[in-house]
Amino acid sequence: MYAMALETWSAKQLVRVELPTPDVGPKQVRVAVHAIGVNPVDWKMRSGGPLRLAARVIRTVRGPRGPIILGVDFAGVVEAVGAKVTDLAVGQRVVGGTNFSRGQHGSYADTVVVESDQLAPLPDDVPFDVAGALPVAGVTAWMALTEYRRIEPGRRALVLGASGGVGQFAVQLAKRTCGADVVAGVCSTKNLELVRSLGADHALDYTGGDPLEAARAHGPYDVVVDCAGTYAASRCRSLLAPGGRHVMVAGDSIGMMLQVIVPPFRSRAILGKPTRARISAVVAAVAAKQLVVPISERLPLAEVEAAHAKSMTGRVTGKLVLLAR
Ligand SMILES: NC(=O)c1ccc[n+]([C@@H]2O[C@H](COP(=O)([O-])OP(=O)(O)OC[C@H]3O[C@@H](n4cnc5c(N)ncnc54)[C@H](OP(=O)(O)O)[C@@H]3O)[C@@H](O)[C@H]2O)c1
Repeated sequence: MYAMALETWSAKQLVRVELPTPDVGPKQVRVAVHAIGVNPVDWKMRSGGPLRLAARVIRTVRGPRGPIILGVDFAGVVEAVGAKVTDLAVGQRVVGGTNFSRGQHGSYADTVVVESDQLAPLPDDVPFDVAGALPVAGVTAWMALTEYRRIEPGRRALVLGASGGVGQFAVQLAKRTCGADVVAGVCSTKNLELVRSLGADHALDYTGGDPLEAARAHGPYDVVVDCAGTYAASRCRSLLAPGGRHVMVAGDSIGMMLQVIVPPFRSRAILGKPTRARISAVVAAVAAKQLVVPISERLPLAEVEAAHAKSMTGRVTGKLVLLAR
């Protein structure tokens, strides 16, 4: 197998490495990877700060050894299953997410091995590139709208950063899958039409005044999903209806933790974790045509450095997808 990896934590470039094809444990599945979604966490893990520190500590304790393979999202075809895996079969199309904290390699590779509960079956009519873009961003949006605060008819949702990877999924799932009465999304001028087309009742421009004051006119909200990380938590909470939640997807981690532990306890920091049930829910929304997956660009896996450079601008509209074969 091959991967694009850092040879050490201080390496400047992701380079192609050849590795032996891994065996599967009893509850594991090996997948021939076709497509890999790029997420900001991928480059944050190499660029210093708390995410890199956490990843380094986890790898030191749990492994694996050898080159550092980043990436979480993947979609592909089952190549081998462990003796105790009875619900997935060789040849089946699947989508999933790797998990560093389980001692696994990342997904920037043509082959991954994960536990079977990290994978969901993929219907034939959902292409690999679409599926590969779903796990982290789709599952994070899904968790915010169903586990952190249940959004349903009669409720209102505000999405900050509505034109980004997570935000686009949050707008669509809130409106079309959860059935929110009102969805408002905050983005830049160039993306207003896009955010409306995804189902937002109100698209609000953050470049033309204070978007939170503009959002107040359409609230109060049962959930404020912050995918931008640039808005004061207290101001986000001031837009909440009774029982509402401010869900922090983005932001500086220490600041987020402080908001969680201080009263009034209406802010929550989310960590998107792709599990079979969550991925299946998001895939079902795609199959039901409730969720479209705007892909900004498809690049060969070998061009991962270019994909990271684009993602790091923070202004990519839609998902970047790497193709491994
Ligand atoms: N906690 C978790 O589990 C989790 C999971 C996924 C992502 N994240 C984090 O969440 C953030 C977003 O991820 P992503 O994948 O959606 O990133 P992305 O695709 O790069 O999108 C970022 C978006 O932010 C928008 N933006 C920038 N400044 C803004 C502002 N002041 N107000 C409103 N929107 C603004 C940009 O839209 P315009 O071009 O329209 O300005 C851009 O589309 C990242 O920090 C990422 O690390 C966390």
